[in-house]
Amino acid sequence: MQAAPLLLCFLTLSLTTLLTATPYPLKPNTSDLEFRGSKKFEGSSTFVHMRYHMGPVLTATITVHTIWYGPWQKSQKKIIREFIGSISALNAKQPSVAGWWETVKLYNDQTGANVTGEVRFGQEKNDRFYSHGKSLTRLSIQSVIKSAVTARTNPLPVNPQNGLYLVLTSDDVYVQDFCGQVCGFHYFTFPSIVGYTLPYAWVGNSAKFCPGICAYPFAVPEYMVGVQPLKSPNGDVGVDGMISVIGHEMAELATNPLVNAWYAGEDPVAPVEIGDLCEGIYGSGGGGSYMGQVLEGKDGATYNMNGIRRRYLVQWVWNHIVSYCTGPNALDQ
Ligand SMILES: *[C@@H]1O[C@H](CO)[C@@H](O)[C@H](O)[C@H]1NC(C)=O
Ligand SMILES: *[C@@H]1O[C@H](CO)[C@@H](O)[C@H](O)[C@H]1NC(C)=O
Repeated sequence: MQAAPLLLCFLTLSLTTLLTATPYPLKPNTSDLEFRGSKKFEGSSTFVHMRYHMGPVLTATITVHTIWYGPWQKSQKKIIREFIGSISALNAKQPSVAGWWETVKLYNDQTGANVTGEVRFGQEKNDRFYSHGKSLTRLSIQSVIKSAVTARTNPLPVNPQNGLYLVLTSDDVYVQDFCGQVCGFHYFTFPSIVGYTLPYAWVGNSAKFCPGICAYPFAVPEYMVGVQPLKSPNGDVGVDGMISVIGHEMAELATNPLVNAWYAGEDPVAPVEIGDLCEGIYGSGGGGSYMGQVLEGKDGATYNMNGIRRRYLVQWVWNHIVSYCTGPNALDQ
């Protein structure tokens, strides 16, 4: 068994240079991505071989069970709940979160079944008093899940087939490698720890520790002198920053839940997944350090898609049919 579960990282491309000294994540060599001289930017590449490795993808209605670790405000929970609820909301204003998920649905398994478009918000568990402390390791995240599914009152249901467990840590909780190397990751639980194999993702609120890294571009790191942060769409820099990481991890979980389905690269210990290839790309023309064309609201907030009741800024995902990153309504273009 690997001592260190694999990490899947979210860091914007513009920060790549800062972080090249770190072993995680295995990032594609961006000079291989043909940003220059290509009409289609958006990470367009003939060098990326996104391949299917015969494992399952999430084809049945996904139920997202959420663990709120540490204290969370009602308003923060609402922003996140509504984002997850928007993935299946076909009636939201365009460009929509549901339109963005269309690219994720382009991935299928060996039976020909595609990733589902049905995602529903499941049950929630509050772990307000930090059952495993304020500093978690990658493995102790699994213990947090175990506590939630074995709680004496209102345990989270165990759904190995279609459950997706989301562990969200409040801004005073540190998780191993947070900020320096990762803003979130996904993996699956070990039966020896949790009792079941459950696909899960962790995403942390970076507002106190490193908003300039994990909530970029709503906050900028100190070394980027003179660069102004963009206005976040829901007035909460930490949570608005988390949304894109949650989107990244959910897209990867759906297409690679047991880390044996869709990824590029030969090494399953450091696979490059559909979110990794599009870090920092939020709109047409995005690539290098340019986020691409995004929208600006009347209030000055930056976003690129609409949910059922709110706007969000979410990175695009790799489209293996056309071999570049695509966003909402890619299929209509
Ligand atoms: C990235 O690719 C370019 C061109 O193929 C190569 O010259 C360069 O050395 C590579 N960089 C790294 C860090 O591998
Ligand atoms: C299902 O996946 C296949 C193969 O990637 C793709 O060609 C097809 O368009 C997908 N179907 C939907 C409904 O997205």
